[in-house]
Amino acid sequence: MECESKMKVLITGGLGYLGSVMIGKLLDKGHKVRVLDSSIYGNFLGLAGKQVELVEGDIRDRRQLLNATSDVDAIIHLAGIIGDAAANLDKELTIRANCLATKRLAELCSRKGLRFLFSSTCSVYGARPNEVIRENSQIAPLSLYAMSKLIAEESIMKRCDNYVIFRLGTLFGLSPRMRFDLVINKFIAQAIQDAKITVYGGLQRRPFVHVQDVSDTFVKALTSDVKGTYILGGTNYRIQEAAEVIKQQTGCNVTVLNGMKDPRDYAVDSSLAEKVFGFKDIKRVEYAVDETKDAYARKVIRDYRESIFNNEEWLKSYGVKSVDHWLDRKIGKCTC
Ligand SMILES: NC(=O)c1ccc[n+]([C@@H]2O[C@H](COP(=O)([O-])OP(=O)(O)OC[C@H]3O[C@@H](n4cnc5c(N)ncnc54)[C@H](O)[C@@H]3O)[C@@H](O)[C@H]2O)c1
Repeated sequence: MECESKMKVLITGGLGYLGSVMIGKLLDKGHKVRVLDSSIYGNFLGLAGKQVELVEGDIRDRRQLLNATSDVDAIIHLAGIIGDAAANLDKELTIRANCLATKRLAELCSRKGLRFLFSSTCSVYGARPNEVIRENSQIAPLSLYAMSKLIAEESIMKRCDNYVIFRLGTLFGLSPRMRFDLVINKFIAQAIQDAKITVYGGLQRRPFVHVQDVSDTFVKALTSDVKGTYILGGTNYRIQEAAEVIKQQTGCNVTVLNGMKDPRDYAVDSSLAEKVFGFKDIKRVEYAVDETKDAYARKVIRDYRESIFNNEEWLKSYGVKSVDHWLDRKIGKCTC
């Protein structure tokens, strides 16, 4: 049951692709927002940034976690090294950021009795080409990233009473902190900028969900008393179908290159989250095409190939192993 209370919320990773959109929704509902983020990819919050308390810090640091969780009612935990390619760059960093920091946050939540919302991924299910996945389907993560999110989920379930874990499909749509390493966003940008989409393989099915629809559901879940693990998958597309939708709207060409197989092949069922949280998969690929065209027209986006839009490329530009040292220099040596 939802109550309309206003909360003080800590959002880790609030400067990221999902967090930058979610913050606007939290503020619209009258919640107070504190952000803990190491600003690896910068800060694109704009005006919303003036209404939040920004703590530039590191979730791997015990002391900073303790300080950041003081006097809040709830935590939305989004921070980490995100995506298969980025997570493989420095495995130790990934484990410390995605698993150990989540364990510590879960301990703090449990001790302080805070509500805890966590963004996991449908990738924890791995490749299941012949079934529609539901919450209790078999888990089989295929990458370090997916495994790190699964380990994080287990820490939360073991320690917290008052938690919701959302397993998300691949996100798409416009955010102040844009990512073009997400397949739909990349296709849309290729269509607008190059008039040509290149699809690798493309028969694999994947669930895609708009970043705003996910943000709305997190905000609803914050003030609900529901607990547990839910899929927020969105619409299941074969990758080639998604490219065709964009082609219809933009008139671009689509080139399919065979021979490269993406093992992530699955479709999911989000009906439990629809029933429990009123999750609605409203904003479709067509909507994202329009908003991205508009961002190009306003020159907010000029070239989707810039490394800032790609987690792996941006982290590489710091030198793979030196991200860790860079964070230590920037934020202060970790006490982990
Ligand atoms: N984007 C997707 O398609 C998708 C799909 C499934 C699940 N998710 C989950 O949603 C969440 C948000 O993803 P996103 O796309 O916004 O990622 P993102 O990479 O854009 O954002 C991650 C944020 O975490 C911050 N961060 C990284 N390491 C940190 C550290 N040590 N201390 C403090 N802050 C740190 C970064 O600065 C960044 O702002 C993640 O938990 C991710 O696993 C995303």
